Amino acid sequence: MEMNNKTNPTVVVIFGGGGDLTWRKLVPAIYNLFLDHRLNERFALIGIDSKDFSDDDYRSHLREGVENFSRRGKARSDEWKKFAASLSYQKADFTRTETYKEISDIIERFEKEAGAKAIRLFYMAVPPNLIETIATHLGKSGLTGDAGTSRVVVEKPFGHNLESARSLNRMLTNVFEERQIYRIDHYLGKETVQNILALRFANALFEPVWNRNYIDHVQITVAEKVGVEHRGGYYDHAGALRDMIQNHLLQLLCLIAMEPPVSFDADEVRNRKVDVLHAIRRFNRQEIQENAVRGQYGPGWQKGDHVAGYREEPGVDPESDTETFAAVKFFIDNWRWQDVPFYIRTGKRLPEKISVITIQFRRVPHQSFPSEAAANWQPNRLIITIQPQKTIRLRFQAKQPGLNMILNLEDMEFNYSDSYTTEPPEAYETLLLDVMLGDATLFMRADQVEAAWDILMPILEAWDAKPSYVFPNYPAGSWGPDDAEALVARDGHNWATLPRKRGAQQDENEKEQ
Ligand code: BG6
Repeated sequence: MEMNNKTNPTVVVIFGGGGDLTWRKLVPAIYNLFLDHRLNERFALIGIDSKDFSDDDYRSHLREGVENFSRRGKARSDEWKKFAASLSYQKADFTRTETYKEISDIIERFEKEAGAKAIRLFYMAVPPNLIETIATHLGKSGLTGDAGTSRVVVEKPFGHNLESARSLNRMLTNVFEERQIYRIDHYLGKETVQNILALRFANALFEPVWNRNYIDHVQITVAEKVGVEHRGGYYDHAGALRDMIQNHLLQLLCLIAMEPPVSFDADEVRNRKVDVLHAIRRFNRQEIQENAVRGQYGPGWQKGDHVAGYREEPGVDPESDTETFAAVKFFIDNWRWQDVPFYIRTGKRLPEKISVITIQFRRVPHQSFPSEAAANWQPNRLIITIQPQKTIRLRFQAKQPGLNMILNLEDMEFNYSDSYTTEPPEAYETLLLDVMLGDATLFMRADQVEAAWDILMPILEAWDAKPSYVFPNYPAGSWGPDDAEALVARDGHNWATLPRKRGAQQDENEKEQ
Protein backbone atom coordinates (compact mmCIF):
# COMPACT_ATOMS: atom_id res chain seq x y z
CA MET A 1 0.00 0.00 0.00
CA GLU A 2 3.03 2.18 -0.52
CA MET A 3 2.38 5.86 -0.86
CA ASN A 4 5.83 6.82 -2.12
CA ASN A 5 7.77 5.06 -4.84
CA LYS A 6 11.41 5.15 -4.06
CA THR A 7 13.25 1.92 -3.41
CA ASN A 8 16.92 1.81 -2.41
CA PRO A 9 19.44 -0.65 -3.86
CA THR A 10 17.93 -3.96 -2.86
CA VAL A 11 19.05 -7.52 -2.29
CA VAL A 12 16.36 -10.18 -1.96
CA VAL A 13 17.49 -13.47 -0.47
CA ILE A 14 14.92 -16.25 -0.76
CA PHE A 15 15.33 -19.25 1.52
CA GLY A 16 13.42 -21.88 -0.40
CA GLY A 17 14.45 -20.30 -3.69
CA GLY A 18 13.93 -23.65 -5.44
CA GLY A 19 10.40 -24.10 -4.11
CA ASP A 20 6.89 -23.68 -5.40
CA LEU A 21 6.10 -20.31 -3.82
CA THR A 22 9.20 -18.74 -5.37
CA TRP A 23 8.36 -20.23 -8.73
CA ARG A 24 4.65 -19.44 -8.88
CA LYS A 25 4.31 -16.26 -6.89
CA LEU A 26 7.46 -14.48 -5.73
CA VAL A 27 9.53 -14.28 -8.88
CA PRO A 28 6.57 -13.54 -11.20
CA ALA A 29 5.66 -10.71 -8.80
CA ILE A 30 9.22 -9.35 -8.67
CA TYR A 31 9.48 -9.57 -12.44
CA ASN A 32 6.33 -7.47 -12.78
CA LEU A 33 7.80 -4.90 -10.38
CA PHE A 34 10.84 -4.84 -12.64
CA LEU A 35 8.66 -4.29 -15.73
CA ASP A 36 6.83 -1.51 -13.92
CA HIS A 37 10.17 0.15 -13.07
CA ARG A 38 9.53 -0.26 -9.36
CA LEU A 39 12.80 -2.05 -8.59
CA ASN A 40 15.90 -0.05 -7.93
CA GLU A 41 18.46 -0.11 -10.77
CA ARG A 42 20.74 -1.90 -8.34
CA PHE A 43 18.85 -5.08 -7.59
CA ALA A 44 19.87 -8.67 -6.90
CA LEU A 45 17.88 -11.78 -6.09
CA ILE A 46 19.62 -14.80 -4.61
CA GLY A 47 17.75 -18.09 -4.41
CA ILE A 48 19.01 -20.40 -1.67
CA ASP A 49 18.00 -24.03 -1.56
CA SER A 50 19.31 -27.57 -1.34
CA LYS A 51 18.48 -28.49 -4.95
CA ASP A 52 21.06 -28.54 -7.73
CA PHE A 53 20.82 -25.60 -10.10
CA SER A 54 23.45 -23.73 -12.05
CA ASP A 55 22.73 -19.98 -12.28
CA ASP A 56 21.58 -20.52 -15.86
CA ASP A 57 19.33 -23.47 -15.00
CA TYR A 58 17.87 -21.43 -12.18
CA ARG A 59 17.11 -18.53 -14.51
CA SER A 60 15.40 -20.81 -17.05
CA HIS A 61 13.41 -22.44 -14.28
CA LEU A 62 12.26 -19.05 -13.02
CA ARG A 63 11.40 -17.88 -16.51
CA GLU A 64 9.15 -20.88 -16.93
CA GLY A 65 7.39 -19.91 -13.68
CA VAL A 66 6.95 -16.33 -14.88
CA GLU A 67 5.53 -17.46 -18.19
CA ASN A 68 3.09 -19.84 -16.51
CA PHE A 69 1.93 -17.69 -13.65
CA SER A 70 2.51 -14.01 -14.30
CA ARG A 71 -0.57 -11.95 -15.11
CA ARG A 72 1.41 -10.67 -18.10
CA GLY A 73 2.07 -14.10 -19.57
CA LYS A 74 5.07 -14.69 -21.81
CA ALA A 75 8.22 -12.73 -21.00
CA ARG A 76 9.83 -10.69 -23.77
CA SER A 77 13.37 -11.94 -24.38
CA ASP A 78 15.10 -8.55 -24.17
CA GLU A 79 13.33 -7.65 -20.94
CA TRP A 80 13.84 -11.06 -19.41
CA LYS A 81 17.53 -10.99 -20.26
CA LYS A 82 17.98 -7.72 -18.43
CA PHE A 83 16.08 -8.98 -15.39
CA ALA A 84 17.77 -12.40 -15.40
CA ALA A 85 21.17 -10.75 -14.97
CA SER A 86 20.13 -9.90 -11.40
CA LEU A 87 19.24 -13.52 -10.52
CA SER A 88 21.60 -16.05 -8.98
CA TYR A 89 21.42 -19.31 -7.09
CA GLN A 90 23.30 -20.78 -4.15
CA LYS A 91 23.01 -24.44 -3.33
CA ALA A 92 23.28 -24.35 0.43
CA ASP A 93 22.36 -25.98 3.68
CA PHE A 94 20.26 -23.64 5.87
CA THR A 95 21.72 -25.19 9.01
CA ARG A 96 25.37 -24.35 8.29
CA THR A 97 27.05 -21.17 9.49
CA GLU A 98 29.06 -21.01 6.23
CA THR A 99 25.85 -20.49 4.24
CA TYR A 100 25.26 -17.19 5.99
CA LYS A 101 28.91 -16.19 5.60
CA GLU A 102 28.54 -16.74 1.85
CA ILE A 103 25.36 -14.67 1.74
CA SER A 104 27.14 -11.98 3.68
CA ASP A 105 30.03 -11.94 1.21
CA ILE A 106 27.64 -11.64 -1.75
CA ILE A 107 25.78 -8.76 -0.12
CA GLU A 108 29.00 -6.97 0.75
CA ARG A 109 30.20 -7.25 -2.85
CA PHE A 110 26.83 -5.95 -4.05
CA GLU A 111 26.95 -2.99 -1.68
CA LYS A 112 30.48 -2.18 -2.71
CA GLU A 113 29.50 -2.12 -6.36
CA ALA A 114 26.34 -0.13 -5.64
CA GLY A 115 28.30 2.27 -3.51
CA ALA A 116 25.49 2.27 -0.98
CA LYS A 117 23.98 0.26 1.80
CA ALA A 118 21.31 -2.07 0.43
CA ILE A 119 17.86 -2.93 1.67
CA ARG A 120 18.21 -6.58 2.64
CA LEU A 121 15.09 -8.63 2.33
CA PHE A 122 15.24 -12.18 3.66
CA TYR A 123 12.23 -14.19 2.53
CA MET A 124 11.47 -17.41 4.37
CA ALA A 125 9.67 -19.44 1.72
CA VAL A 126 10.26 -22.59 3.76
CA PRO A 127 8.23 -25.02 5.88
CA PRO A 128 7.58 -23.74 9.42
CA ASN A 129 10.06 -26.15 11.03
CA LEU A 130 12.98 -24.35 9.33
CA ILE A 131 12.13 -20.83 10.41
CA GLU A 132 13.84 -20.94 13.78
CA THR A 133 17.07 -22.32 12.30
CA ILE A 134 17.23 -19.64 9.62
CA ALA A 135 16.24 -16.82 11.96
CA THR A 136 18.85 -17.81 14.51
CA HIS A 137 21.59 -17.97 11.89
CA LEU A 138 20.54 -14.66 10.40
CA GLY A 139 20.76 -13.08 13.83
CA LYS A 140 24.12 -14.63 14.72
CA SER A 141 25.69 -13.80 11.37
CA GLY A 142 24.92 -10.12 11.78
CA LEU A 143 23.12 -10.11 8.41
CA THR A 144 20.04 -8.54 9.96
CA GLY A 145 21.87 -6.39 12.49
CA ASP A 146 20.72 -3.09 11.01
CA ALA A 147 17.01 -2.93 11.77
CA GLY A 148 16.57 0.08 9.53
CA THR A 149 17.62 -1.72 6.36
CA SER A 150 17.17 -5.45 6.88
CA ARG A 151 13.78 -7.13 6.85
CA VAL A 152 12.55 -10.68 7.15
CA VAL A 153 9.38 -11.96 5.52
CA VAL A 154 7.56 -14.86 7.13
CA GLU A 155 4.76 -16.85 5.51
CA LYS A 156 1.87 -18.47 7.35
CA PRO A 157 1.14 -20.66 9.23
CA PHE A 158 2.03 -18.39 12.15
CA GLY A 159 1.84 -21.22 14.64
CA HIS A 160 -0.66 -24.01 15.04
CA ASN A 161 -2.45 -22.56 18.05
CA LEU A 162 -2.12 -19.63 20.45
CA GLU A 163 0.73 -21.18 22.39
CA SER A 164 2.87 -22.05 19.37
CA ALA A 165 2.14 -18.65 17.78
CA ARG A 166 3.36 -16.98 20.97
CA SER A 167 6.53 -19.01 21.01
CA LEU A 168 7.16 -18.32 17.30
CA ASN A 169 6.70 -14.60 17.96
CA ARG A 170 8.96 -14.77 21.02
CA MET A 171 11.65 -16.51 18.99
CA LEU A 172 11.40 -14.01 16.13
CA THR A 173 11.37 -10.95 18.37
CA ASN A 174 14.37 -12.28 20.30
CA VAL A 175 16.34 -12.15 17.07
CA PHE A 176 14.76 -9.24 15.19
CA GLU A 177 12.98 -6.05 16.09
CA GLU A 178 9.22 -6.26 15.45
CA ARG A 179 9.56 -3.57 12.77
CA GLN A 180 11.85 -5.91 10.80
CA ILE A 181 9.31 -8.74 10.70
CA TYR A 182 6.81 -8.84 7.83
CA ARG A 183 4.22 -11.58 8.35
CA ILE A 184 2.43 -12.05 5.06
CA ASP A 185 -1.30 -12.49 4.73
CA HIS A 186 -1.64 -12.38 0.97
CA TYR A 187 -5.32 -11.40 1.17
CA LEU A 188 -4.27 -8.00 2.45
CA GLY A 189 -2.33 -7.38 -0.74
CA LYS A 190 -5.31 -8.02 -3.00
CA GLU A 191 -6.41 -4.90 -4.82
CA THR A 192 -10.07 -5.27 -3.89
CA VAL A 193 -9.21 -5.86 -0.24
CA GLN A 194 -7.19 -2.65 -0.07
CA ASN A 195 -10.09 -0.94 -1.72
CA ILE A 196 -12.21 -1.61 1.36
CA LEU A 197 -10.07 1.01 3.11
CA ALA A 198 -10.63 3.47 0.26
CA LEU A 199 -14.37 2.79 0.15
CA ARG A 200 -14.82 3.24 3.88
CA PHE A 201 -12.40 6.03 4.67
CA ALA A 202 -12.19 8.17 1.54
CA ASN A 203 -15.96 8.64 1.29
CA ALA A 204 -18.22 10.53 3.65
CA LEU A 205 -21.26 8.63 2.43
CA PHE A 206 -20.85 5.31 4.17
CA GLU A 207 -19.53 6.15 7.63
CA PRO A 208 -22.81 7.54 9.04
CA VAL A 209 -24.64 4.28 8.21
CA TRP A 210 -21.77 1.93 9.00
CA ASN A 211 -23.05 0.72 12.34
CA ARG A 212 -25.66 -1.25 14.23
CA ASN A 213 -28.34 1.35 13.60
CA TYR A 214 -28.34 0.75 9.86
CA ILE A 215 -26.58 -2.55 9.24
CA ASP A 216 -28.54 -5.70 9.92
CA HIS A 217 -25.75 -8.20 9.41
CA VAL A 218 -22.57 -8.88 7.47
CA GLN A 219 -21.66 -12.01 5.50
CA ILE A 220 -18.19 -12.98 4.37
CA THR A 221 -17.84 -15.93 2.00
CA VAL A 222 -14.48 -17.19 0.76
CA ALA A 223 -15.31 -20.20 -1.37
CA GLU A 224 -12.84 -22.39 -3.18
CA LYS A 225 -13.54 -24.87 -5.91
CA VAL A 226 -10.30 -26.78 -5.46
CA GLY A 227 -9.82 -29.55 -2.93
CA VAL A 228 -6.62 -29.85 -0.93
CA GLU A 229 -4.62 -30.47 -4.12
CA HIS A 230 -1.10 -31.67 -3.30
CA ARG A 231 -1.17 -30.19 0.21
CA GLY A 232 -3.02 -32.98 2.03
CA GLY A 233 -0.12 -33.54 4.43
CA TYR A 234 -0.16 -29.92 5.62
CA TYR A 235 -3.90 -29.39 5.42
CA ASP A 236 -4.83 -32.47 7.41
CA HIS A 237 -3.09 -30.92 10.42
CA ALA A 238 -4.60 -27.52 9.78
CA GLY A 239 -8.22 -27.46 8.57
CA ALA A 240 -10.34 -24.54 7.42
CA LEU A 241 -10.31 -22.62 10.72
CA ARG A 242 -6.53 -22.51 10.89
CA ASP A 243 -5.85 -22.30 7.17
CA MET A 244 -8.33 -19.55 6.25
CA ILE A 245 -10.30 -18.09 9.16
CA GLN A 246 -7.41 -17.43 11.55
CA ASN A 247 -5.86 -15.17 8.94
CA HIS A 248 -7.69 -14.20 5.75
CA LEU A 249 -11.31 -14.12 6.91
CA LEU A 250 -10.65 -12.46 10.25
CA GLN A 251 -8.57 -9.84 8.46
CA LEU A 252 -11.45 -9.13 6.07
CA LEU A 253 -13.77 -8.88 9.05
CA CYS A 254 -11.38 -6.40 10.69
CA LEU A 255 -11.32 -4.18 7.60
CA ILE A 256 -15.12 -4.04 7.56
CA ALA A 257 -15.47 -3.52 11.30
CA MET A 258 -12.51 -1.32 12.28
CA GLU A 259 -12.83 2.27 13.45
CA PRO A 260 -11.51 4.95 11.08
CA PRO A 261 -7.76 5.26 11.53
CA VAL A 262 -6.32 8.70 12.27
CA SER A 263 -3.70 8.14 9.56
CA PHE A 264 -2.34 5.39 7.36
CA ASP A 265 0.59 4.88 9.63
CA ALA A 266 1.22 1.12 9.81
CA ASP A 267 0.73 0.87 13.55
CA GLU A 268 -2.33 3.09 13.59
CA VAL A 269 -4.11 0.88 11.04
CA ARG A 270 -3.02 -2.28 12.80
CA ASN A 271 -4.08 -0.92 16.18
CA ARG A 272 -7.58 -0.27 14.88
CA LYS A 273 -7.74 -3.81 13.48
CA VAL A 274 -6.51 -5.37 16.67
CA ASP A 275 -9.22 -3.46 18.58
CA VAL A 276 -11.78 -5.40 16.54
CA LEU A 277 -10.17 -8.73 17.34
CA HIS A 278 -10.18 -7.88 21.03
CA ALA A 279 -13.87 -6.99 20.86
CA ILE A 280 -14.97 -10.24 19.22
CA ARG A 281 -17.12 -12.19 21.65
CA ARG A 282 -15.51 -15.35 23.04
CA PHE A 283 -17.84 -18.34 23.03
CA ASN A 284 -18.43 -20.90 25.76
CA ARG A 285 -18.95 -24.57 24.78
CA GLN A 286 -22.71 -24.17 24.39
CA GLU A 287 -22.31 -21.07 22.23
CA ILE A 288 -19.80 -22.88 20.02
CA GLN A 289 -22.47 -25.49 19.31
CA GLU A 290 -24.81 -22.72 18.24
CA ASN A 291 -22.43 -20.45 16.38
CA ALA A 292 -19.78 -22.59 14.72
CA VAL A 293 -20.32 -25.20 12.03
CA ARG A 294 -17.75 -27.56 10.55
CA GLY A 295 -17.88 -29.67 7.45
CA GLN A 296 -15.81 -32.09 5.45
CA TYR A 297 -16.36 -32.91 1.80
CA GLY A 298 -17.17 -36.36 0.61
CA PRO A 299 -17.00 -37.53 -3.00
CA GLY A 300 -19.16 -35.55 -5.38
CA TRP A 301 -19.51 -33.86 -8.72
CA GLN A 302 -18.17 -30.59 -9.98
CA LYS A 303 -19.27 -29.44 -13.41
CA GLY A 304 -19.77 -33.01 -14.63
CA ASP A 305 -16.52 -34.36 -13.17
CA HIS A 306 -16.49 -36.85 -10.37
CA VAL A 307 -14.13 -35.77 -7.59
CA ALA A 308 -12.78 -37.72 -4.64
CA GLY A 309 -13.80 -37.11 -1.06
CA TYR A 310 -11.36 -35.43 1.34
CA ARG A 311 -10.52 -38.70 3.12
CA GLU A 312 -9.42 -40.18 -0.21
CA GLU A 313 -7.05 -37.32 -1.02
CA PRO A 314 -3.28 -38.05 -1.03
CA GLY A 315 -1.61 -37.30 2.28
CA VAL A 316 -4.90 -37.31 4.21
CA ASP A 317 -5.71 -39.77 6.99
CA PRO A 318 -8.58 -42.01 5.69
CA GLU A 319 -10.34 -41.42 9.02
CA SER A 320 -9.50 -37.76 9.17
CA ASP A 321 -11.59 -35.50 11.33
CA THR A 322 -10.21 -32.31 9.80
CA GLU A 323 -12.73 -29.72 8.66
CA THR A 324 -12.58 -28.53 5.06
CA PHE A 325 -15.46 -26.14 5.64
CA ALA A 326 -16.19 -23.81 8.52
CA ALA A 327 -18.90 -21.24 9.15
CA VAL A 328 -18.99 -19.07 12.25
CA LYS A 329 -21.35 -16.40 13.49
CA PHE A 330 -19.29 -13.78 15.31
CA PHE A 331 -20.37 -10.82 17.38
CA ILE A 332 -18.28 -7.75 18.04
CA ASP A 333 -18.98 -6.36 21.47
CA ASN A 334 -18.52 -2.64 21.03
CA TRP A 335 -20.71 0.43 20.48
CA ARG A 336 -20.62 0.24 16.70
CA TRP A 337 -21.47 -3.42 16.28
CA GLN A 338 -23.34 -4.65 19.33
CA ASP A 339 -25.69 -7.49 18.28
CA VAL A 340 -24.88 -7.29 14.56
CA PRO A 341 -24.03 -10.83 13.42
CA PHE A 342 -21.00 -11.34 11.19
CA TYR A 343 -21.53 -14.65 9.41
CA ILE A 344 -18.38 -15.96 7.83
CA ARG A 345 -17.85 -19.16 5.88
CA THR A 346 -15.11 -20.78 3.88
CA GLY A 347 -14.63 -24.17 2.36
CA LYS A 348 -12.95 -26.30 -0.23
CA ARG A 349 -14.68 -28.16 -3.06
CA LEU A 350 -17.56 -25.72 -3.15
CA PRO A 351 -19.27 -25.06 -6.50
CA GLU A 352 -17.13 -22.08 -7.44
CA LYS A 353 -14.18 -19.92 -6.44
CA ILE A 354 -15.49 -16.64 -5.16
CA SER A 355 -14.78 -14.24 -2.28
CA VAL A 356 -17.56 -11.83 -1.38
CA ILE A 357 -18.48 -9.54 1.47
CA THR A 358 -22.17 -8.68 1.77
CA ILE A 359 -23.30 -5.87 4.02
CA GLN A 360 -26.99 -6.12 4.53
CA PHE A 361 -28.75 -2.99 5.71
CA ARG A 362 -31.85 -2.90 7.86
CA ARG A 363 -35.35 -2.83 6.49
CA VAL A 364 -37.09 0.47 5.97
CA PRO A 365 -38.76 1.44 9.25
CA HIS A 366 -42.17 1.69 7.62
CA GLN A 367 -43.32 0.33 4.28
CA SER A 368 -45.28 3.16 2.60
CA PHE A 369 -45.80 1.29 -0.64
CA PRO A 370 -48.80 -1.00 -1.05
CA SER A 371 -47.95 -4.67 -0.93
CA GLU A 372 -48.54 -5.09 -4.72
CA ALA A 373 -45.87 -2.47 -5.36
CA ALA A 374 -43.40 -3.88 -2.89
CA ALA A 375 -43.67 -7.59 -3.69
CA ASN A 376 -40.02 -7.64 -4.79
CA TRP A 377 -38.84 -5.39 -2.00
CA GLN A 378 -35.59 -6.37 -0.32
CA PRO A 379 -33.24 -4.61 2.06
CA ASN A 380 -30.30 -2.64 0.65
CA ARG A 381 -27.08 -4.52 0.25
CA LEU A 382 -23.55 -3.43 -0.40
CA ILE A 383 -21.74 -6.31 -2.07
CA ILE A 384 -17.97 -6.24 -2.35
CA THR A 385 -16.67 -8.98 -4.63
CA ILE A 386 -12.99 -9.56 -4.03
CA GLN A 387 -12.41 -12.26 -6.60
CA PRO A 388 -12.61 -13.45 -9.31
CA GLN A 389 -14.75 -10.49 -10.35
CA LYS A 390 -13.72 -7.19 -8.85
CA THR A 391 -16.85 -5.24 -8.19
CA ILE A 392 -18.66 -3.16 -5.62
CA ARG A 393 -22.43 -3.13 -5.97
CA LEU A 394 -25.06 -1.26 -4.08
CA ARG A 395 -28.45 -2.88 -4.32
CA PHE A 396 -31.44 -0.61 -4.03
CA GLN A 397 -35.09 -0.38 -5.10
CA ALA A 398 -36.20 1.58 -8.12
CA LYS A 399 -39.47 2.06 -9.89
CA GLN A 400 -40.03 -0.40 -12.70
CA PRO A 401 -40.92 1.50 -15.88
CA GLY A 402 -44.66 1.45 -16.52
CA LEU A 403 -47.92 3.02 -15.52
CA ASN A 404 -48.06 1.28 -12.15
CA MET A 405 -45.80 1.84 -9.20
CA ILE A 406 -43.90 -1.42 -8.95
CA LEU A 407 -40.62 -1.57 -7.09
CA ASN A 408 -37.76 -3.51 -8.54
CA LEU A 409 -34.25 -4.34 -7.37
CA GLU A 410 -31.41 -2.59 -9.16
CA ASP A 411 -27.66 -2.44 -8.72
CA MET A 412 -25.30 0.49 -8.86
CA GLU A 413 -22.04 -1.13 -9.76
CA PHE A 414 -18.39 -0.26 -9.87
CA ASN A 415 -16.56 -2.85 -11.94
CA TYR A 416 -12.78 -2.64 -12.19
CA SER A 417 -12.74 -4.04 -15.68
CA ASP A 418 -15.09 -1.30 -16.94
CA SER A 419 -13.20 1.53 -15.30
CA TYR A 420 -9.61 0.45 -15.86
CA THR A 421 -7.96 -1.20 -18.79
CA THR A 422 -4.88 -2.42 -16.94
CA GLU A 423 -4.92 -5.51 -14.77
CA PRO A 424 -4.32 -4.60 -11.12
CA PRO A 425 -1.12 -5.93 -9.56
CA GLU A 426 -1.11 -9.33 -7.92
CA ALA A 427 -1.13 -9.36 -4.12
CA TYR A 428 2.52 -10.41 -3.96
CA GLU A 429 3.58 -7.47 -6.14
CA THR A 430 2.01 -5.01 -3.74
CA LEU A 431 3.31 -6.78 -0.67
CA LEU A 432 6.88 -7.29 -1.88
CA LEU A 433 7.15 -3.66 -2.91
CA ASP A 434 5.83 -2.65 0.51
CA VAL A 435 8.56 -4.69 2.19
CA MET A 436 11.20 -3.05 0.01
CA LEU A 437 9.80 0.34 0.98
CA GLY A 438 9.48 -0.56 4.64
CA ASP A 439 5.69 -0.12 4.82
CA ALA A 440 4.21 -2.70 7.20
CA THR A 441 0.57 -1.53 7.06
CA LEU A 442 -0.61 -4.63 5.18
CA PHE A 443 1.35 -7.10 7.30
CA MET A 444 0.39 -8.93 10.45
CA ARG A 445 1.88 -7.71 13.69
CA ALA A 446 2.61 -10.24 16.43
CA ASP A 447 -0.31 -9.11 18.58
CA GLN A 448 -2.77 -9.39 15.66
CA VAL A 449 -1.74 -12.97 15.05
CA GLU A 450 -2.11 -13.84 18.72
CA ALA A 451 -5.45 -12.05 19.08
CA ALA A 452 -6.81 -14.03 16.11
CA TRP A 453 -5.67 -17.32 17.67
CA ASP A 454 -7.18 -16.30 20.98
CA ILE A 455 -10.60 -16.00 19.32
CA LEU A 456 -10.38 -19.39 17.67
CA MET A 457 -8.89 -21.41 20.52
CA PRO A 458 -12.21 -22.28 22.22
CA ILE A 459 -13.61 -23.52 18.90
CA LEU A 460 -10.48 -25.49 18.06
CA GLU A 461 -10.43 -27.03 21.51
CA ALA A 462 -14.12 -27.96 21.38
CA TRP A 463 -13.73 -29.53 17.95
CA ASP A 464 -10.55 -31.37 18.92
CA ALA A 465 -12.21 -32.76 22.01
CA LYS A 466 -15.18 -34.11 20.07
CA PRO A 467 -14.68 -35.74 16.69
CA SER A 468 -17.44 -35.20 14.21
CA TYR A 469 -19.41 -38.41 13.77
CA VAL A 470 -21.10 -37.14 10.63
CA PHE A 471 -18.04 -36.44 8.48
CA PRO A 472 -18.06 -36.30 5.50
CA ASN A 473 -21.15 -34.12 5.68
CA TYR A 474 -21.23 -32.33 2.35
CA PRO A 475 -20.63 -33.66 -1.14
CA ALA A 476 -17.93 -32.01 -3.21
CA GLY A 477 -19.59 -29.47 -5.46
CA SER A 478 -22.21 -28.36 -2.90
CA TRP A 479 -22.34 -25.25 -0.70
CA GLY A 480 -21.33 -27.08 2.49
CA PRO A 481 -23.26 -28.84 5.23
CA ASP A 482 -26.92 -28.14 5.97
CA ASP A 483 -25.94 -26.82 9.38
CA ALA A 484 -24.30 -23.85 7.66
CA GLU A 485 -27.65 -22.97 6.11
CA ALA A 486 -29.32 -23.42 9.48
CA LEU A 487 -26.81 -21.04 11.08
CA VAL A 488 -28.22 -18.11 9.12
CA ALA A 489 -31.76 -19.45 8.63
CA ARG A 490 -32.29 -19.46 12.42
CA ASP A 491 -31.94 -15.68 12.29
CA GLY A 492 -34.34 -15.39 9.35
CA HIS A 493 -31.66 -14.98 6.68
CA ASN A 494 -30.11 -16.83 3.75
CA TRP A 495 -26.55 -16.84 2.64
CA ALA A 496 -26.74 -14.08 0.06
CA THR A 497 -26.73 -15.26 -3.48
CA LEU A 498 -23.30 -14.69 -4.86
CA PRO A 499 -22.90 -12.16 -7.60
CA ARG A 500 -23.24 -13.62 -11.07
CA LYS A 501 -21.52 -12.34 -14.15
CA ARG A 502 -23.49 -9.51 -15.67
CA GLY A 503 -26.71 -10.51 -17.37
CA ALA A 504 -26.99 -13.84 -15.57
CA GLN A 505 -30.25 -14.58 -13.78
CA GLN A 506 -30.59 -13.79 -10.10
CA ASP A 507 -30.99 -16.95 -8.09
CA GLU A 508 -34.20 -17.89 -6.35
CA ASN A 509 -32.76 -17.85 -2.86
CA GLU A 510 -31.91 -14.17 -3.30
CA LYS A 511 -35.23 -13.46 -1.61
CA GLU A 512 -34.87 -12.60 2.06
CA GLN A 513 -37.36 -14.29 4.30
C1 BG6 B 1 -3.97 -19.95 1.38
C2 BG6 B 1 -4.48 -21.25 1.92
O1 BG6 B 1 -3.55 -19.12 2.41
O2 BG6 B 1 -5.00 -19.30 0.64
C3 BG6 B 1 -4.98 -22.14 0.79
O3 BG6 B 1 -3.43 -21.93 2.62
C4 BG6 B 1 -5.99 -21.40 -0.05
O4 BG6 B 1 -5.55 -23.34 1.31
C5 BG6 B 1 -5.45 -20.05 -0.48
O5 BG6 B 1 -6.27 -22.20 -1.19
C6 BG6 B 1 -6.54 -19.23 -1.16
O6 BG6 B 1 -5.99 -18.07 -1.69
P1 BG6 B 1 -6.64 -17.34 -2.96
O7 BG6 B 1 -5.80 -16.12 -3.14
O8 BG6 B 1 -6.56 -18.31 -4.09
O9 BG6 B 1 -8.06 -17.05 -2.57
